[in-house]
Formats: sequence, C-alpha cells, structure tokens
Amino acid sequence: MNDEFLRLWPQAASEHAHSIDWLIWSFTGMMAIFVIPVFALCLLFAIRYRKGTKVPRDHRPRGSMKVEMTWIVLPFIGSMIIYLVSAKLYYEVKTPPTDAMEIQVVAKQWMWKFQHPGGQREINTLHVPVGRPVRLNMISQDVIHSLYFPALRIKQDLLPGRYTQLWFNATEAGRYEVFCAEYCGTDHSKMLATLIVQPPQEYERWLSRSGASESLAEQGEVLFRQFGCSGCHGPAAVAKAPKLENLYGRRVALSDGSSVLADQAYIRDSILLPHKQIVAGFEPIMPSFANVIDEEGVLRLTAYIQSLDGGRQDEPGAGRAMPEETAP
Ligand code: CUA
Repeated sequence: MNDEFLRLWPQAASEHAHSIDWLIWSFTGMMAIFVIPVFALCLLFAIRYRKGTKVPRDHRPRGSMKVEMTWIVLPFIGSMIIYLVSAKLYYEVKTPPTDAMEIQVVAKQWMWKFQHPGGQREINTLHVPVGRPVRLNMISQDVIHSLYFPALRIKQDLLPGRYTQLWFNATEAGRYEVFCAEYCGTDHSKMLATLIVQPPQEYERWLSRSGASESLAEQGEVLFRQFGCSGCHGPAAVAKAPKLENLYGRRVALSDGSSVLADQAYIRDSILLPHKQIVAGFEPIMPSFANVIDEEGVLRLTAYIQSLDGGRQDEPGAGRAMPEETAP
C-alpha cells in the first residue's frame, strides 16, 4: 500500500501521523477479532445445518458463566485501552505548544493564502521547516472550506467569521498534497495546495529569498495609519478610544459588566463588529470596518496590536493568547 495504489495510504510526515496510523490499525485489528468469528460461524452453521443434512440438531442451550464473563470483560478492556490512547492523542493533536510558529491562513473561493510572521506571503504553497511546531491560525473570507493535509493526518474547517486552528510538527522533508475537503463551489476540486517541508536552513533561505520588506506586524501598522485607526487609538489621538498598548492577551472589562479575553477573535470582532462588545467607560462611536478591511488586513492589524506590548516579552505567556474555542 503506497502512493501508487489509489493513494489510499499516503506517506506519513509527522509523529502524530504515525500514531494515528497505529491507532487506526489497532482499532481495525480489534474489530476484526470481534467480527471475523461471528461471520465465520454464521457461514459454518449455515452450511452444516442447511436443510437435509444429517447432523444432530437436539443441542440444548447450556449457560456458561465463564464464557459470558470473558466476552464482557475482554472487549471492555480492549475498548477502554483504545479509548484512552485515542483521547490522549486527540488532546495532543488539538493542543498546539505555546512556542509554535504561527502562520496565518485565509481561504477564499478558490485559493489558499498563507502568511508567515516575517510577512512572507504565498498562495497555494506552504513552506515550513522540519522539526518545528507550526500553528495555523485560519479563517475563511467567504464560505466554509476545509484544509486537509493527508500526510499529516489532520484536517480542519475554515469558517467565515471565526478563527480555527491546526498545528503540526513535520518530521520528514518533502512535498505533500493539500486539499480542500469541504465542497465550496464550482472550483472546489481545484482548490489544491502543496506543503513543502524543508530543513531549517533551507527554510531560512526561502524566507530571505521571498522578499518581504515588512513583517506581518509592520504591514499591520501601515494599515493602522491608512484606515485612520491611529486618529482615535494612537498616542496623540483627540477622540476618546481605548488604548491598544498592552491590550493583547489581557482581560477587558465591558460596559455590560462582563469581561472578555483580548485574543484574535476579540480584536477581529472589535474591528468588524465594533458594537458587539463595548469597552467599559467608552461610547459606541467606532464605525464598522466590515467590507472595508478583508480578513488578511484584520490578521495584519491584529499582529500589529499584538506587537504593542511595551516590552513584556519576558513575561511568560505574554501576548500569546490562544483563540478561544467558543461559538460566536
Ligand atoms: Cu474550498 Cu472546497
């Protein structure tokens, strides 16, 4: 079973991919142990006791506590082992390490846009280094898409209006196929990309060659001035607007008495749906930038706001708030 055979079992390019393969094979094996004897005996009895055969048919049912207990206890233990192993694996696959490199992903009909922290942009290819955890922070510009890396055995929907994430640590350099796995319109089947996993030095070389003059945060700063955000939120602003320094990763008190974590989702909502959550002590005077700033712009502005941390990098976890997995 390899790439040539219908590509049913693609190469595994991460540690988790190997663990997931193991899990699937063990589960399949366990199911075979349960299912094969049942079907084999069905077939055997159907032949042996078919109409007209001269075999004894006067067996009376004999109860056996030992047999009953065995087929209750053994499958129970087996399924609990599978449950515990898969729950642990699920947790690992869903929990990115805090030091993961973050890449922004915006899906739209019909392309994948990736942007690296240094500002390098690419469309339908994603370069990553070997052996370094990568977290994809993802959102859709239009309809639901799904980013699927068969070689990493991971897949996640990208939704309009909500950030989702994926993370992986690729262990094998190479080129791998990437698919959209959610029907998203006419060219869904052509919404493909290539994952290019490179040794770290090669990846660094690629980064320096792909000519980004500004980092993601610096690109955000340009937008911040361009869209006039600095007129109200800047240090010399006349209008009364919440200050953005040291905002990221902190809790913000709202006018309705509740509070919210200033993460990527909160900053996105504040730009596009400014009247959804009003900061305590401020008037709801900010205009919405929906239809003005696209998702990529929002991600750049967020990176800029995230960079306004007044040198609290040494604080553990500073500016590293994860998007909360809550419904909008
Ligand atoms: Cu995007 Cu299917």
